[in-house]
Amino acid sequence: MGFLDNFSLKEKKAIVTGGARGIGGASALVLAEAGADVAIIDLLQGADTVKAIQAFGRESFSVQADMTVEEQVNNAFDTIKKKFGRIDIVFSNAGIAHCVPCEKMTWEEWRRVMSIDIDSMFLVNRAAARIMIADGNGGSIINTASMSGMIVNYPQEQVAYNAAKAGVIQLTRSLACEWAKYNIRVNSISPGYICTDMTPATSNKAWMDTWFAMGPTKRLGTANEIAGAVLYFASNAASFTTGANLVIDGGYTCY
Ligand SMILES: NC(=O)c1ccc[n+]([C@@H]2O[C@H](COP(=O)([O-])OP(=O)(O)OC[C@H]3O[C@@H](n4cnc5c(N)ncnc54)[C@H](O)[C@@H]3O)[C@@H](O)[C@H]2O)c1
Repeated sequence: MGFLDNFSLKEKKAIVTGGARGIGGASALVLAEAGADVAIIDLLQGADTVKAIQAFGRESFSVQADMTVEEQVNNAFDTIKKKFGRIDIVFSNAGIAHCVPCEKMTWEEWRRVMSIDIDSMFLVNRAAARIMIADGNGGSIINTASMSGMIVNYPQEQVAYNAAKAGVIQLTRSLACEWAKYNIRVNSISPGYICTDMTPATSNKAWMDTWFAMGPTKRLGTANEIAGAVLYFASNAASFTTGANLVIDGGYTCY
């Protein structure tokens, strides 16, 4: 066995939330290419992603569910556990962005961002760990935070998003410590500006000009440039990596 075999996910069963498109979609394909069967959970149907995963010869299906609703999270995980028999990898990635000055933000807007960007992380991590602990096989959980958990973006104002993503980084570190005894690793990724439906290449031009002036790489990243980190955390190559937060931002937070 060569070292690169540590990156193989043969026989592994994975779940990707927000896996229908964007960072989740690209990562689901990479996990499948590495050998995992991958179930998608999303508000969207995700049929194209499922087809693309199956094209790698892997088993795949999607569950339409809202990760902010406790019962829907638990039911989705039960369904997948029944079909797959076990769950080894969970990429908790569903999220939304919302930019509005705080003094103009309604309580409903604040709650919406918090419910998907941090509350759902608790629900998904707990559902994953309950299954992994009961099965006794350990596992790997990867949470999508953001560079916004560490810096304040400019010029757009997004206090709820920034606060929620800072919460994801600390939730990850806390759970890494709580669940190390079960051989469950918990890590987070913190992307910078990535070209997806959330941050399209057609984003507000004044914002993009400011971002590119503020960062060394002067472009948006791609979802595929995030997916390799998800594979690393998911795989045995990261067997001593837990509680880590990997910033993948083209150097943006270095300035
Ligand atoms: N694109 C960026 O610039 C960027 C930067 C840093 C972090 N992120 C984070 O990356 C993650 C993925 O974002 P993306 O850029 O791929 O965006 P995206 O909008 O392309 O994908 C997000 C996916 O999550 C799903 N989703 C949203 N709310 C959900 C819910 N309540 N239940 C289930 N699924 C839900 C959407 O349907 C969508 O498929 C998010 O957590 C986001 O905050 C994105």
